[in-house]
Amino acid sequence: MVSRIIPVEAFDLIIFGGTGDLARRKILPALFKRFCAGQMPSPSRVIGVARGDLGDAGYRDEVRAALKEHLDVPGDDSAISAFLQQIHYVRVDVLGEDGWQELADMLEPGRIRAFYLSVGPSLFGDIARRLQAAGLADSESRIVVEKPFGHDLDSARALNRELAGYFDEGQIYRIDHYLGKETVQNLMAVRFGNMLFEPLWNAQYVDHIQITVAETVGVGGRGAYYDRAGAMRDMMQNHLMQLLCLIAMEPPAKFDPDAVRDEKLKVIRALEPVQPHHIIRGQYTAADGVKSYREDVGNDRSKTESFIAIKTHVSNWRWAGTPFYLRTGKRLKARDSQITVVFKDAPHSIFGPDSGRHNNELTIQLQPDEGITLDVTIKEPGPGGMRLIDVPLDMSFAEALGPEADAPDAYERLIMDVIRGNQTLFMRNDEVEAAWAWTDPIIKGWEARGDVPKPYDSFTNGPDDASLLIRRDGREWRSIGQ
Ligand code: NDP
Ligand code: BG6
Repeated sequence: MVSRIIPVEAFDLIIFGGTGDLARRKILPALFKRFCAGQMPSPSRVIGVARGDLGDAGYRDEVRAALKEHLDVPGDDSAISAFLQQIHYVRVDVLGEDGWQELADMLEPGRIRAFYLSVGPSLFGDIARRLQAAGLADSESRIVVEKPFGHDLDSARALNRELAGYFDEGQIYRIDHYLGKETVQNLMAVRFGNMLFEPLWNAQYVDHIQITVAETVGVGGRGAYYDRAGAMRDMMQNHLMQLLCLIAMEPPAKFDPDAVRDEKLKVIRALEPVQPHHIIRGQYTAADGVKSYREDVGNDRSKTESFIAIKTHVSNWRWAGTPFYLRTGKRLKARDSQITVVFKDAPHSIFGPDSGRHNNELTIQLQPDEGITLDVTIKEPGPGGMRLIDVPLDMSFAEALGPEADAPDAYERLIMDVIRGNQTLFMRNDEVEAAWAWTDPIIKGWEARGDVPKPYDSFTNGPDDASLLIRRDGREWRSIGQ
């Protein structure tokens, strides 16, 4: 078996916001897992930055607690103790002057430097400016920025301009953690690594495509942010848009950052404006043991959507006339993310009118259980004529690959790509702006019309109108959670 670990050079990773929720839940656990896999070669260091007076010892205590809370770490903690030796802390208020020199003194000349901005976006520009002013960044340094990347097209452009004032585009890593998910990358492997699918991957053979990202969680402790964002800005503009790009794009000439991102950009630019009656927005209501959306965000007049379903088209030669149905929401029936490519019916049924309607469906299941299913039509077993049924050819990655299917968390993959200097799975400036250019008029439209989201019962499929959106076209959503 070939080793799955691609070695990386020693690095310094500086996490601005090293004490925050994202660092505790995602970034530090991901780094610990890479450390355990041998991918944090000594003398690599992780340097947490925040305003508290913690020192190395205090910060290491916090990191230990975070790892124990968010990871199943067996035994005597010796792996954590070893990891903590490579963890440091510097106190900096990024809006002030103090602490920058101390940070500069810590960094090792000539070593890879990655600055991870895990802070609110309003601080991105200040940090970038001060990194340059303090001489901390060199031409090899990388800067990683978290979502949300802008609130609309204007703010995204302003942020791009601000960062471009201090860093080259080749140094900027805009995170969309969906691109780091193993099955999302598998989507490209399935499409471009198999001869089977690509000839059929177009409007001539595909009836429609569905993308669903359903969550059972509510907005949690992020109500203030979420009520300004809603499902459109929080999920559709970025995660679902990226999935749509990977499904719809032309084969890039090679798996290289600009080749892939050029093709994704063409898809976003080919997206048609969405008609108002092709947009369904919803807001979850209270259920046993859970509050309503409005209670969660503390705004009893909120018009922000916690669910959105959209029908759109990619206006190009390959996809002309093929609808793409996208939906995402919180407090739905199950945690279930899937992409389904529904192929057209056979042009003529030799089995007569009673054999029913049968078509092939390829489902790429992203979570919770990763796998791929192809529904094929076969003869129903037994005597009594020629009756047809659809059966799934089911490939669960866990069953097919055993322990090899134990995919790394998206953040593990993405952070290591930053260290390697590989931007393929990160969004480029023009891609982000194109996504906002498509999103803005949709949001402005419902704001101008004063649209209010439809209430829906928690732990269901969302508002009934979302079912009508697709049923009107004689189609059905794939069930959530089956
Ligand atoms: P938190 O509010 O939990 O953490 C913010 C961090 O920033 C803290 O470490 C805080 O430390 C630090 N900070 C704030 N102001 C300053 C300052 N002036 N100088 C130095 N440090 C400062 O936020 P999250 O961790 O939740 O989010 C961070 C970023 O990641 C945001 O952009 C968010 O949108 C994004 N994100 C978060 C997700 C999540 O699930 N949490 C998911 C996807 C993206 P201190 O107060 O001690 O200084
Ligand atoms: C984040 C959104 O980007 O993605 C959250 O801000 C959402 O609202 C999360 O819950 C979903 O990610 P995952 O990996 O759990 O599907």
